Amino acid sequence: MEIGILISGRGSNMVALVDAVASGEIPASEVAVVISDKADAAGLAKAEERGVETLVIERKGRKREEHDAEIVAALKDRGVEIVCLAGYMRLLSPMFVRAFPDRIINIHPSLLPAYPGLNVHERVIAAGEKRSGCTVHYVDELLDHGEVILQREVPVLPDDTPETLSARILEQEHGAYVEAVKKILTRERARSEQREIEYGFSARH
Ligand code: GRF
Repeated sequence: MEIGILISGRGSNMVALVDAVASGEIPASEVAVVISDKADAAGLAKAEERGVETLVIERKGRKREEHDAEIVAALKDRGVEIVCLAGYMRLLSPMFVRAFPDRIINIHPSLLPAYPGLNVHERVIAAGEKRSGCTVHYVDELLDHGEVILQREVPVLPDDTPETLSARILEQEHGAYVEAVKKILTRERARSEQREIEYGFSARH
């Protein structure tokens, strides 16, 4: 399975995925490309160091659909089947979502559906929550929305700052994202084996 990863910044989740593919923890897959919408994303150098092709596709005042069409074309050109958003800070257009049905996933640092959007940890602490965590979910056209694949919880401690809470959650994010990708790859392989069985059956009858 060819995986494409979209980033906008630091890229630590992207690194976790690339390393898990390289070590075989995520089996029989390849990260075909890492695409950033920001030329100065720190994650780009980390992908290059790991020998993964990188592309910068900036929005540069273009309409969302036009920008997304260029990204979709780059992903399709490389045979990408699964798209992982890893700190990618843009909402996808309906066209992008339809181009990879059930095959775009995202990670968000809260227990969705609670706290979608930005400044999550500030809001979690201000609300006096006792627990938070991260969610890997399928992507639809809405912000941080779509069927949940898996979640991991962490406690919110009395003296937490947004930074300490964010760091505690990020530790969980990397393993959660790897586990979620393994889960959906297993499902995709089962689906394609099923299609082969059905195709073989209909070809014989
Ligand atoms: C992570 O907290 C992720 O959940 C959110 O953006 C942050 C990206 O961090 N969507 P990184 O770029 O993967 O280090």
